[in-house]
Amino acid sequence: MPIQDRRQTQPEGEIAPAKPRVAVSERGSDMNMRFEDHLPSVHSILRAGNPRLELDQHPMKAQRLVDTARMLVAGDKGLLAMDESNPTCDKRFAKLGIPQTVEARRAYRELIITTPGLGECISGAILCDETIRQQKKDGTPFIKVIIDAGIIPGIKVDAGAKDMAAHPGEKITEGLDGLRERLASYSHMGARFAKWRAVIALGDGIPSRGCIEANAQALARYAALCQEGGLVPVVEPEVLMDGEHTLKRCCEVTEEALRTVFSQLYVQRVMLGGMILKPNMVLPGLNCPKQETVDEVADATVRCLLRAVPAAVPGIAFLSGGQSGELASARLNAMNVRFKSRLPWAVAFSFARAIQQPALEIWRGEESHVGAAQQALYHRAKCNAAARRGTYDVAMDADRQTRA
Ligand code: 13P
Repeated sequence: MPIQDRRQTQPEGEIAPAKPRVAVSERGSDMNMRFEDHLPSVHSILRAGNPRLELDQHPMKAQRLVDTARMLVAGDKGLLAMDESNPTCDKRFAKLGIPQTVEARRAYRELIITTPGLGECISGAILCDETIRQQKKDGTPFIKVIIDAGIIPGIKVDAGAKDMAAHPGEKITEGLDGLRERLASYSHMGARFAKWRAVIALGDGIPSRGCIEANAQALARYAALCQEGGLVPVVEPEVLMDGEHTLKRCCEVTEEALRTVFSQLYVQRVMLGGMILKPNMVLPGLNCPKQETVDEVADATVRCLLRAVPAAVPGIAFLSGGQSGELASARLNAMNVRFKSRLPWAVAFSFARAIQQPALEIWRGEESHVGAAQQALYHRAKCNAAARRGTYDVAMDADRQTRA
């Protein structure tokens, strides 16, 4: 059966069992046995290395995860990360003179989710613990507003990146304690997927093997817990842009981090068909004197991912990591223009700043600016949907700036 057909009819984790072995006497003679009959079945090898996959015994649950993961990267839509922690959100508000209060954060998130037409370009929205519990000013729960807009609600579940003991300059993401219970409660509230971000900094002597491995293991344990609880894990190992490193160095570290993450995902029995990978693009450091072209970044990123990301993963949804909205769209566009028809996974987006920043700068906490801010947000979401189709053009941004 061609790979495509097998994927459509059989969710991962449901490998067709090998034909039952029959006694030699029933076969006639050993002469009739094929070479493959002497080999252990694929099924028994998998079970020996990775026995009793929990999801094997729950095909309906596995199918739901696969369906949700595919929906998140279907067509030309992508994810909107609106899950900034309170301190991060407050820092962005402070720069623009917006009050750093629960009400200001609520009003801003209401602006985002009530943006007309958002569901045309956005498949899933990632919320944080504060936001998932909030309501619109008229009392409608945010979760209902999101679902009514045709968007799948998701939730950030990590507890943040903390200084890593004995590893100066490096971070380890925390949040595994009590995660099973928290996932159950978010699922009850309506979340269908979750996110966990690990950060890997580049610099003198870093990243260390210890940092990459500890973060990869935490990501894999989080992902396994998500799938057990029926939520699709968005697995985010972010190699940071800060620094003077070259594109080549970013490529090496990204490949190493991704290989380690997928090795751990296998060890922790995570079903690759029921997850989304959220990586960084392969970029030169912000302070690197050589800044490659859009096409060079697209080529380096796709080559790196092809070496490290299994084809069973349904989609890659990039983070923007501090790139401008225009550059993030242009680079995503170039990847789809140059490679889309030849890639095993969908190449999508899961941006926060690259979608939200212009809207935030227009809003600045003013009720009278809500409409204009929503137009800016919709515009960026639309540019990224175009980038998924490979039809984004910088002129889309130039035209808008001229009209503004
Ligand atoms: P940026 O797109 O701003 O990097 O944010 C993505 C994200 O969700 C970080 O966890």
